[in-house]
Amino acid sequence: MTTTNHQITFERYGDPSVLQFRSGDLPTPGPGEVLLRVSAIGVNYSDVLRRRNTYFMPTPLPYVPGTEVVGTIEGTGPGIDAPFAHGTRVLAILPRGGGYAEYVTASVQYCIPLPPQIDDATATAIFVQGSTAQLMVTQLAGDVSGKTVVINAAAGGVGSLLVQLCKLRGGRVIAAAGGPEKLRVASALGADATVDYRSPDWSQQVRAANRGRGADLIFEMVGGEVYNESLRALAPGGHLIVYGCASGEQGRVDPEHFVDENIRQSGFNLAHYLQHYNPLWQQALGEVIGLLAGGQLRVRTAMTFPLAEAAEAHRRLEARATTGKVVLIPQS
Ligand SMILES: NC(=O)c1ccc[n+]([C@@H]2O[C@H](COP(=O)([O-])OP(=O)(O)OC[C@H]3O[C@@H](n4cnc5c(N)ncnc54)[C@H](OP(=O)(O)O)[C@@H]3O)[C@@H](O)[C@H]2O)c1
Repeated sequence: MTTTNHQITFERYGDPSVLQFRSGDLPTPGPGEVLLRVSAIGVNYSDVLRRRNTYFMPTPLPYVPGTEVVGTIEGTGPGIDAPFAHGTRVLAILPRGGGYAEYVTASVQYCIPLPPQIDDATATAIFVQGSTAQLMVTQLAGDVSGKTVVINAAAGGVGSLLVQLCKLRGGRVIAAAGGPEKLRVASALGADATVDYRSPDWSQQVRAANRGRGADLIFEMVGGEVYNESLRALAPGGHLIVYGCASGEQGRVDPEHFVDENIRQSGFNLAHYLQHYNPLWQQALGEVIGLLAGGQLRVRTAMTFPLAEAAEAHRRLEARATTGKVVLIPQS
């Protein structure tokens, strides 16, 4: 086994150029941990926010981004038993980051063995984006059967999974995204109608696609004007689920509008479920794995980059030039 470990790190916050490809030492697994040789790394939008230091939690420096990896167990710390034997391929979440690397250590509490029919790139979409989508649908959305559901950034990582999960549960999905290519992606995933939310009055287009009525439920994570317009796109009694703010711009909250229209808003934070509702998260993860293994859910892996080109992966993500999952592949 090699003794060096290439990784991507940043020592100051800023644009993608702060991401540096460096070599370091091989980490040693502690009690309850395994050493993984990484074969695929999931890129999440939160990695971009951490790099800019606009994530909702502080990011310490220096920092190695990356919260989800697929890897093979090459070493174990004290106290590790089956099913985490040498050679087992697992999906691991790294709550404090560190995943943009050839080798990582991971707590088995956050590792799950992977069935062979789920390939590496597909698996990287399960932990953060998959469990986020499934938990929002199962814990917050209520019964979506027969309801009209708008999904913002519908061709993105979480969005593309939400489109499919809401369709599986009998929802009528209106996909909202930026530009015709992304709308085509959302249609191919099963969306019943599409709306380009780059046009200013897109809430009217939602109503036009829904026989003049607003939406029952909207999943929103863009912020700014898209948030404001999402409120206008809701039917009376509608529900807005907010789980991010990719634009970095806050929307305008008008309490009177919530009262007048009987609207409610819920927030979602995956970290909260990981810490405080771990069994619910485990259950959601198992459900997503089952849906993938059964072929009911598809992951779009649109872009794969060598680990050393992580900066380019971030550039594309920020330029809104990606659909589905973005993956880094170590070359070791
Ligand atoms: N709360 C949680 O626990 C949780 C968990 C996972 C993810 N998230 C959040 O969910 C969102 C989606 O995450 P993801 O990893 O699946 O990313 P993603 O959707 O694959 O990529 C972000 C998408 O956001 C849209 N967007 C709109 N305005 C943007 C802007 N100003 N800059 C960049 N992108 C913009 C773009 O789609 P269009 O071009 O179609 O607009 C872009 O493709 C992020 O905000 C992330 O922080 C939250």
